Amino acid sequence: MACQHESPQRLVASTNQHLLESLHWLEEDLDTIRSDDLFRPVRVRLGRQSGTVTLNDLELINFGSNDYLGYAGDSRLIKASSKGACSEGAGAGASPLVSGHSTLHESLGKNLSSLLDTEESLIFPSGYAANTSIISCLTGPHDLIVSDAHNHASIIDGCRLSGANVQIYPHRDITAAARLLKSIPARRRLIVTDSLFSMDGTIAPLADIAQLAHDTKSMLLVDEAHATGLFGIHGSGLIEEAGIASSVAVRIGTLSKALGSSGGFVSGHRTLIDFLRHRARSWMFSTAHPPASSAAAIQAITLLSEEPFRRKKLAENAGVLRQKLLSHGVDIGDAEAHIVPVFVKTPQRAIQIASSLVRDGFFVPAIRPPSVPKGSSLLRISLSYLHTQDTIDSLSNSIIKYVCM
Ligand SMILES: Cc1ncc(COP(=O)(O)O)c(C=O)c1O
Repeated sequence: MACQHESPQRLVASTNQHLLESLHWLEEDLDTIRSDDLFRPVRVRLGRQSGTVTLNDLELINFGSNDYLGYAGDSRLIKASSKGACSEGAGAGASPLVSGHSTLHESLGKNLSSLLDTEESLIFPSGYAANTSIISCLTGPHDLIVSDAHNHASIIDGCRLSGANVQIYPHRDITAAARLLKSIPARRRLIVTDSLFSMDGTIAPLADIAQLAHDTKSMLLVDEAHATGLFGIHGSGLIEEAGIASSVAVRIGTLSKALGSSGGFVSGHRTLIDFLRHRARSWMFSTAHPPASSAAAIQAITLLSEEPFRRKKLAENAGVLRQKLLSHGVDIGDAEAHIVPVFVKTPQRAIQIASSLVRDGFFVPAIRPPSVPKGSSLLRISLSYLHTQDTIDSLSNSIIKYVCM
């Protein structure tokens, strides 16, 4: 009997020792991350999204959220979401194809298709999940993907998963993209780009890309994660603003930024959506979107048409901020919208300035590799409808003080 008691304990002890040894290399890697100033502590946020944020018990003015229209903490979305949860439950219970697809998902799909003026839409658990599985099921080993160097990680991962020949063109360099598309043989071609780039705030030359897709008979996928809700007469995004909707085969967006909810979506022709229902693995093999999040997104889409003044004010405030920083010689690259980077090159400088800004009462995240390439660390100012012109002015004074001294 004694042996029977002892042996499991010994097994646990030796397993733990082995486990620690097998994970030792992680500690070495983490040491390198720390010594390169790339370690990222997770701060605990208190309360809902608003113009201020409380991180680790410190209240700061919030320039570090993608809640561009101020809807994430809006009581109308919260009420819609509570109602959605009451009617359909806290979870969807199953993947969409089994029994998870509910009336709220059906309604959200229709609302998105109506906003984007497309035939059908499909809701994913996140924008990340949408990109990884859509790109990887539209292309395979005999195909060519031509992708902008600044595309989001979810696009990069989707390209990797596809097994296709992936060629990266320099940021927004359409001539280079054309060269690749015209010189490399492939069964099918896919051009992939963000519309508004998430870190440097630049906008893709969408009209030229649409023309290139047409000339090279390529499929075009545009990720509007940071543009949905913010551009165009109806607020559907930069595709609408550029007037190229008829050239974009695959329109990706998220519900998690300007729409204040959570989840990703794809919108387009019925054939595309039908195909994705049978091939997009993160849609097929993951539990459907939480009903409450769908309800909140539906409410946000309704508000887009009722409150266009929100996106107008955001664009105006962003223009004033960019102009002021530029006039003081602050390097904001070619930023054109509500994401305003302040390039400071090294991770050390980014952390230093971000800490100084915290002392002045502002939260502006320091963005470092691997989120951006080595040598281009930056402070990412993310503007929201909730910021006042006075607050933005105070932030810009602080930035000018620390960056230009
Ligand atoms: C361009 C782009 N696409 C996709 C995503 C992922 O979206 P989600 O946060 O809904 O997963 C992001 C997230 O920041 C993004 O910037």
